[in-house]
Amino acid sequence: MTPVLEGKNIVRDYHLPGGMFKKARTVHAVKGVNFSVEEGKTLAIVGESGCGKSTLARIITMIDPATAGDLFIDGKKVDIFKGDLTPEIRRKVQIVFQNPYGSLNPRKKIGDILMEPLIINTNTPAAERRDLAMAMLRKVGLQDVHFNRFPHMFSGGQRQRIAIARALMLKPRLLVLDEPVSALDLSVQAQVLNLLADLQDELNLTYVFISHDLSVVRYMADDVMVMYFGEAVEYGTREQVFNDPQHNYTKTLFAATPRADVDTIKARLARKAAVSAAS
Ligand SMILES: Nc1ncnc2c1ncn2[C@@H]1O[C@H](COP(=O)(O)OP(=O)(O)O)[C@@H](O)[C@H]1O
Ligand SMILES: [Mg+2]
Repeated sequence: MTPVLEGKNIVRDYHLPGGMFKKARTVHAVKGVNFSVEEGKTLAIVGESGCGKSTLARIITMIDPATAGDLFIDGKKVDIFKGDLTPEIRRKVQIVFQNPYGSLNPRKKIGDILMEPLIINTNTPAAERRDLAMAMLRKVGLQDVHFNRFPHMFSGGQRQRIAIARALMLKPRLLVLDEPVSALDLSVQAQVLNLLADLQDELNLTYVFISHDLSVVRYMADDVMVMYFGEAVEYGTREQVFNDPQHNYTKTLFAATPRADVDTIKARLARKAAVSAAS
């Protein structure tokens, strides 16, 4: 099967200009990483702050250009250098950020926030836009009355549901989730993770799930890539990486205490096992 997403030797350097008192220098943020994700699966990218996760996320979502490498979406090579991309290819990949408040326009009502991608990217008639936005609101666990409210009237978890809903309005193939629950309380984290898991099953979505939290990664991932200073030091199935980590960095990382709700994680793992046993 052709993977939904494939990256080959992706490199990103940031050139920082010098000033009066400092020399120009280059930050090697991503140093040639390879990855691929099959349809309906989740690749988790884990690593400490500054290891290059968000840089990679911005390349995959075509927000920022790469310095070198090849990116394929549904087997089709994408121009990741000039950013000269068709709307079709951009629509296939959507992103959800850590801080939903920063990414939602505070002056817009939720309904308008959800309809906006349809207005910009499609010719969907107004009445249908409204229906689609309302349906998506329900799909992410919110209610019709929320349609006319503003972002500040919601909790952090609800705002992240809105950001997820907006990301799904154009029916993407791939969702890149950059620390989507890191700013939320633990109990709310579990709810949003469950929502993401349910949406993935229902819509057959492919995820790149970025986190620095291993318990969250264990819950969500099919495959895991561990990044360390811009390199993928470990890459394998969740079982391989968690049960038999090869790299010293991964072992050190795993020595940290788990955080997320263990019962929820167990329930999710049992469900995944049941699904794969049935298929
Ligand atoms: N726009 C930028 N300009 C210069 N350096 C950057 C920029 N964005 C990120 N970096 C640097 O690239 C490295 C990786 O950053 P980032 O991808 O944000 O890591 P992470 O998301 O894993 O915390 C860091 O050293 C960071 O300082
Ligand atoms: Mg980041």
